[in-house]
Amino acid sequence: MAKPKRRYVCQACGSVTHRWQGQCADCGEWNTLAEEAPETVFSAKHDLSSGGRAIRFEPLDAPGEVLQRRTTGIAEFDRALGGGLVPGSAILMGGDPGIGKSTLLLQAAASVANSGGAAIYISGEEAAGQVRLRAERLGLANAPIQLAAATSVRDILTTLGQMEPPALLVIDSIQTMHSDTIEGAPGTVSQVRGCAFELIRFAKQTNTALVLVGHVTKDGSIAGPRVLEHMVDVVMSFEGERSHQYRILRSLKNRFGPVDEIGVFAMEGQGLKEVGNPSLLFLSGRDSPVAGSAVFPAMEGTRPVLIEVQALIVRLASGATPRRAVVGWDNGRMAMLLAVLEARCGLNFSSCEVYLNVAGGYRLTDPAADLAVAAALVSALADKPLPAEAVWFGEVSLAGEIRPVAHGSIRLREAAKLGFGTAFGPAELPGASDGSRYRGLALLPNLVDRIMGEA
Ligand SMILES: Nc1ncnc2c1ncn2[C@@H]1O[C@H](COP(=O)(O)OP(=O)(O)OP(=O)(O)O)[C@@H](O)[C@H]1O
Ligand SMILES: [Mg+2]
Ligand SMILES: [Zn+2]
Repeated sequence: MAKPKRRYVCQACGSVTHRWQGQCADCGEWNTLAEEAPETVFSAKHDLSSGGRAIRFEPLDAPGEVLQRRTTGIAEFDRALGGGLVPGSAILMGGDPGIGKSTLLLQAAASVANSGGAAIYISGEEAAGQVRLRAERLGLANAPIQLAAATSVRDILTTLGQMEPPALLVIDSIQTMHSDTIEGAPGTVSQVRGCAFELIRFAKQTNTALVLVGHVTKDGSIAGPRVLEHMVDVVMSFEGERSHQYRILRSLKNRFGPVDEIGVFAMEGQGLKEVGNPSLLFLSGRDSPVAGSAVFPAMEGTRPVLIEVQALIVRLASGATPRRAVVGWDNGRMAMLLAVLEARCGLNFSSCEVYLNVAGGYRLTDPAADLAVAAALVSALADKPLPAEAVWFGEVSLAGEIRPVAHGSIRLREAAKLGFGTAFGPAELPGASDGSRYRGLALLPNLVDRIMGEA
């Protein structure tokens, strides 16, 4: 009999090879391949065309139980979920260490429990006492959550099988769980997948909403959430700079809702506070206008958020290679914008260091940010502050045209609401109703004239 082949599994993406390599050929991560015990291999001799049970087909319009979404009691969490928890769904919550995953889920479990649903919180990382301490700090000590410290999926499912199924089950984290039917240490790809599979099956059978916490690791010492992404219904990521107070909950995949909605929170001593008006958070601390600062009305899903873009330009005396650094925006996009400003507007950045920063540690992905970035760059280069009450938005093409973008009127409304009465954007703006304080710009040179010409 042939010796079983060695099997190496990438802990980042789950791909399998039979030869060890330093770099995963699938996802390109380094040092993520680890040897794992072989999974059961089905050979062609196993004929699957007989011996099974007949399955039952149903029409799509069959009268069935209509399951209502359940609110988490946290509006920003519900919004990111697309309207609350779907019974029987599995949610994977990823995020950097210490970002606040356990805090958010403890708060959600508490409010589900307080509103009459059974909520179970299983911690595989912290002792029950530690979780209780956190609950005390968050003022949740009286919430009727059922709390346990456990890591054996068999123990967990055996216990759950003997009680009324809960409305919400939190597993913190999936990487600490282990199943005795699977070889390998907790955190390996086969353990993580196997445990998740069993827990998800429980959730589907009992209509429990299941949240699995998944740690994001760069070094591949434990399997990352990516190996679970296709197994779960919703993938969420909890993001933020640990040095900043605010946190953003984003859904990356959602079988039951849109993926571009975000929830915004601020991390405080008493836990995560919902931020109903994120614009105020990202704009804080703007008093007197400075050169290089432009306000951008971004869209996050259906919600507008005003964000400050800051540029700093330092002229170099010598012929040293100038640095370009971008925080919170795409590097390549800034290089492109600089090139367009040089080629179409005759500006010269070649002997200048260029730094771009999005305030508050926010990450911009909206393509309409181009015009605000260009305005910040030109303002910094000219050392002229932009009008204090203006916002800027529009996509810039390689030809230097300012292209129309979606949601113009929503952006204008949000800006006006926060006292930004003037808006600069594309010449054609579908849906812009009140044109009085709206200034359409057709080409990037119009922007440059506008800023350079303004006294
Ligand atoms: N007393 C406190 N006051 C304010 N903030 C606190 C306090 N204690 C903890 N925090 C915040 O809570 C964060 C930790 O939250 P939490 O344990 O929920 O994160 P996590 O994502 O679950 O982390 P881990 O990856 O370790 O499981 C800390 O980084 C800190 O920002
Ligand atoms: Mg935690
Ligand atoms: Zn990989």
